[in-house]
Parts: sequence; structure tokens; C-alpha cells
Amino acid sequence: MELVIQPDAERAAWLVASLIAKALRQKPHLVLGLATGRTMERVYGYLVRMHREEGLDFSLCRTFNLDEYIGLRPDHPGSYRYYMDQNLFKHINIDPRNTFLPDGMAADLPAACRRYEETMLEFGGIDLQLLGIGADGHIGFNESLSALRSRTRDKALAPSTIAVNSTLFAHPGEMPKRAITMGVGTILDARTIILLVTGKSKADILAKAVEGPITSMVSASALQLHSKCRVVVDESAAAKLQAQDYYRWIYETESDWEEFRHPQPIQKVLPLTTG
Ligand code: GLP
Repeated sequence: MELVIQPDAERAAWLVASLIAKALRQKPHLVLGLATGRTMERVYGYLVRMHREEGLDFSLCRTFNLDEYIGLRPDHPGSYRYYMDQNLFKHINIDPRNTFLPDGMAADLPAACRRYEETMLEFGGIDLQLLGIGADGHIGFNESLSALRSRTRDKALAPSTIAVNSTLFAHPGEMPKRAITMGVGTILDARTIILLVTGKSKADILAKAVEGPITSMVSASALQLHSKCRVVVDESAAAKLQAQDYYRWIYETESDWEEFRHPQPIQKVLPLTTG
């Protein structure tokens, strides 16, 4: 695991978008694992800008989202399909047939989950998985006690997750209480992972996830087992980390980060929304 501290959420999102763009330029057939949530909106904003201004090409890219609510039609504004269409897919040159999300409307959910895993494998598995973190340390919708080797499955959401995420629904009561999510084991199979965490409200859980013990109580702590996981955070989220000096030193001295170290000033893509 390698952790990078950026001055603010804007710069952190820009760095993550730049890392994704670099991977896509190196491998146009990239299989990209995508995440939703407020934190990702800026990342997608930058990717859209890179497509428009620099010709970043998504025509051969395949995407697999981490999760989807059960029982929401794809055109429901609360669904993750709708989120992805609005925030990314409709603004770039991706073939909609190459964008995959779990089927939360399937009559046979276990079969849909198995099919999702099979489709990922047919495309060669995930090259780069983008992740955010929930307030309780979940990745995807792997709530506390999710098995560290779990695969794609349907899952009951925690009351705390429902409380946080239902604010994104026009009618909070409409938020489903269950979702399909890639498992922790599915996520760990990705060849590379980028976890983006911003805002002071995430400082405690970030410290537990990256510097605490590996435990199914905090699904994100399983990322410590992955050999190619980068964690990009802003100053606010980094506030509770013990080894900040070390992380800063790595960023300043390791050659991998050189091209990102002294970027031009960036123009914000969205107003700040995270706390
Ligand atoms: C949801 C998603 C997660 C995401 C989390 C954090 O629960 N299933 O993939 O990481 O929200 O979202 P936010 O960025 O809004 O804090």
C-alpha cells in the first residue's frame, strides 16, 4: 500500500483522474472498476474534461461498477446506473455496451451475481479498481463483517449507511435496504487499486483502514493485503494518520510520483461538497 497526501479534495481527485488517464493511455482496452458516491463526482468531472480537452479515449475501455441497489430501475435517479450515466458515461465516448453494473432488478439475484463475476473474467478481470470508503469503512457495499474472501452477492445495508446515503434520494424513504456488491475478495482480485478518501469526516475511518489491524469490521482494511494499492487522500482526511511524515517523504522522493509533483494550477470542476 502506498499513501499520497494532497493539499485538498480537488487536487486529490485530479491526481486520481490523472492516474486513471495514464492507465487508459497505456492500455486502451483497460478494464476499469468504478465506484459511486460524492467523492467520485470530481474524479469523473476531471475525466470528462480530459476527454473533451485532451482527447482521452474511452472507446475500447470496459467498466464494471462495484455495486447497485436492489429493486431500482436503471432510470431511477437514485440508481447507480443513473449516477454513472449522468456523471460520466453520457459525457465520454464509451460504448454503453461496455459499461456493466450488477443487475439489481434480476429475478434470480444469486444467478445475476455469478454472471457478473463471470463477465468480469471473460474480459480478463479488473485492471484498475477505483474505490471510495463509507463512514463505517465499507468498500463497495461490503458492510462490517463482510468476509474478506467474499464474492459478488446481495447484501443488507447497515442502518448507518442507509442514513448517510438516503440523503441522496429525493425521497429518502425510497432508498433500498439491500444492494448487490462485488465482494472484498472480488475487489482484491483487481490488478491495481486506487482508494480515494477526502474530507475530515473520513479521517478516523481512514486511519483505522490503513494503519489499524486487518479486520472484517472495517472492510477497507483488507486492502492492506493488496500488493498494488494506492491510497490518495487530502489533508483533512489525513489528519489522524500516524505516519504522515513518511507518506509525504515517499511522495516527494519516489520517481513514480515525479510527473505529478509540481502540476500546473488546476481549474475546479465542481464546488466542494464533502465535509
Ligand atoms: C456508497 C458506495 C461506496 C462509496 C461510499 C462513500 O456507500 N457504495 O462505494 O465509497 O458510498 O460515498 P461518499 O463518497 O459519498 O462518501
